[in-house]
Amino acid sequence: MTRRTWSVAVAGATGVVGEEILAMLDQRDFPVGSLRLMASARSAGKQVRWRDHDVVVEDLATADFHGVDFAFFSAGSAQAAHARRAAEAGATVIDNSSAFREDPSIPLVVPQVNPHDLDGLRVPGDRPRPGLVANPNCSTILFVMAVAPLERHAKIERAVVSTYQAVSGSGAKALDELARQGEQERTGQPLEAAVYPKPIHGNVLPFVQAFTDDGTTTEERKLVRESRRLLGRPDLRLTATCVRVPVRRAHSEAVNLVLERPVTPEQARAWIAAAPGVRLVDDPATLAFPTPRDADGQDDVLVGRVRRDPSHERGLDLWLTGDQVRKGAAQNAIEIAEELLRG
Ligand SMILES: NC(=O)c1ccc[n+]([C@@H]2O[C@H](COP(=O)([O-])OP(=O)(O)OC[C@H]3O[C@@H](n4cnc5c(N)ncnc54)[C@H](OP(=O)(O)O)[C@@H]3O)[C@@H](O)[C@H]2O)c1
Repeated sequence: MTRRTWSVAVAGATGVVGEEILAMLDQRDFPVGSLRLMASARSAGKQVRWRDHDVVVEDLATADFHGVDFAFFSAGSAQAAHARRAAEAGATVIDNSSAFREDPSIPLVVPQVNPHDLDGLRVPGDRPRPGLVANPNCSTILFVMAVAPLERHAKIERAVVSTYQAVSGSGAKALDELARQGEQERTGQPLEAAVYPKPIHGNVLPFVQAFTDDGTTTEERKLVRESRRLLGRPDLRLTATCVRVPVRRAHSEAVNLVLERPVTPEQARAWIAAAPGVRLVDDPATLAFPTPRDADGQDDVLVGRVRRDPSHERGLDLWLTGDQVRKGAAQNAIEIAEELLRG
């Protein structure tokens, strides 16, 4: 029997996330029948190799989405109108930007955590209904993947998160800036900062994205609000400090949890190890702990350093790291489409 295939579009195909979506559609053998690529007018006309053929990049502003089954968008919030346009033309759109994440009528989904939130779009035995799905923020996806098993078994009373976010999280220009500043330092020139307000090479910036009126950042706000939605805990007490570090790829997070009942580190490790999409790397005796370099290119979120919080009888500390371009963006988006195709 021949396999059913679908017409797929990738908007933002020339960016960090778009390139990873293209690679992962191939690696995961997503049933692509035809592929169309879109980006800004700057890239229109460029050829991008996918599998055994070249695909010409179209200008997103004028692209017609009629006939597209799945559209993966990673062109930023400013292009949200085009994502809506694609859904109106009949596509199931999975959008990586923050444009739709706070709209309660649009599902925000991590398939291993809240797959039921896709139910409104499922059509058994067929492609899903046209509409929008929001792919959550990258740090948030990694966080909920690691803590959902603990929430399921013991409920979280309060969580404190500190992130260590890779430069690729800010896109292709930021990666260039990190490399350029490294070269500038090596050759004794002043470090020029453009994407970030201060040099990121040899530095850490306790600031991700933009400040809000109350002194937190938009990234911190996303982590709090989106985690509450994904975990189905609108009341969850959660605070975050988001930090950019001079790592090319894979975000890390130090997490402190107070659970509703006491849980031993051994029990927590067993729950985490049994969760899909999470891998436990935790053996102090052999210096086994996960780092961003270990997570780079991996599908799983790696969790280690699970230990008792000595300051609280129901407290636990843990460390996680995950490839935010994959599970934090491209992979989660494709997993949403795969989950929808399960009907
Ligand atoms: N990087 C991550 O780890 C990550 C993780 C989760 C979510 N996200 C989100 O995913 C989105 C893309 O991020 P990225 O890191 O891939 O950024 P990026 O490397 O800067 O790529 C941006 C993409 O959007 C396209 N684009 C920009 N302006 C456009 C316009 N006016 N019209 C049409 N296309 C336009 C670019 O096309 P040109 O090449 O033609 O400029 C490029 O293909 C953002 O919303 C980001 O917040 C990123």
